[in-house]
Amino acid sequence: MKTRIEEEVEVFDETAAYDELMSRPYTRYLKKKIDDCLSSLSIKNAVIFELGCGVSEHTDLFKKDNYLVLSDITYSLLKRNDPDCGRVVADAQVLPFKSGMCDLVICLGILHHLPDQYASLTEVGRVLKPGGRIFIQEPHRMSLNFFYHYGRRLFMKLFGVEKVKKMIGCFSPEEWQLDVKALKRAFKHGYTFKRWTILTFRLPPFRIFKKWKLDVSLSKFFDRLPVFKHFGTTIFYEVIKKER
Ligand SMILES: C[S@@+](CC[C@H](N)C(=O)[O-])C[C@H]1O[C@@H](n2cnc3c(N)ncnc32)[C@H](O)[C@@H]1O
Repeated sequence: MKTRIEEEVEVFDETAAYDELMSRPYTRYLKKKIDDCLSSLSIKNAVIFELGCGVSEHTDLFKKDNYLVLSDITYSLLKRNDPDCGRVVADAQVLPFKSGMCDLVICLGILHHLPDQYASLTEVGRVLKPGGRIFIQEPHRMSLNFFYHYGRRLFMKLFGVEKVKKMIGCFSPEEWQLDVKALKRAFKHGYTFKRWTILTFRLPPFRIFKKWKLDVSLSKFFDRLPVFKHFGTTIFYEVIKKER
């Protein structure tokens, strides 16, 4: 039987499926929102670590004025990143870094791929300097994602994983959503939080949806309505480690 890590690597080794997911209008919409947040940090002379980076989209933003280390468990994705940055194959649940060496840790869409989010979050807290911050973006289960997730599980049971993958593109069968309880437990003492959500629609990658950018139009519309915004499908946390 394959381990969970082997399963994840198998999914993310499929370059064409990964690239298709990243090229979808809703992904581009979400990435733009993330880029706006990260740009506003205007960080310099810092050690920045991106966890589960895939093919990172933030190297140009940070690499000139900082030391950027990228890590992922999937080598085929990691090697596509800028060779001017540090690149490390690592499991996000056991980080091969000294304690207190990072000013900023970026975790985008990675935690929900881990069987033990608490282990990863405590590792991230460990490698962070006092005063350093963590930027997290994940699918939010108190939202439409709940139906999407269970709908997908039901379809996998009925039709099998491969058929569902053909229909909706890149995903890993065991992925879940951010474990908010684990996050609160990991950062209970010595940290401050900021949390916000946005609503993004992830529609199946049918050509007609892509052509009309229907996912982006729906995202923009519903994101304006306070109740939907509150239960947005994407959740963000900015966690700051208090100075001692
Ligand atoms: C949905 S992709 C997100 C990629 C990138 N962070 C982004 O937002 O565009 C999830 C990433 O998590 C990585 N991953 C899955 N399990 C992992 C683990 N145990 N340790 C490190 N990375 C892992 C995958 O290889 C993949 O690159």
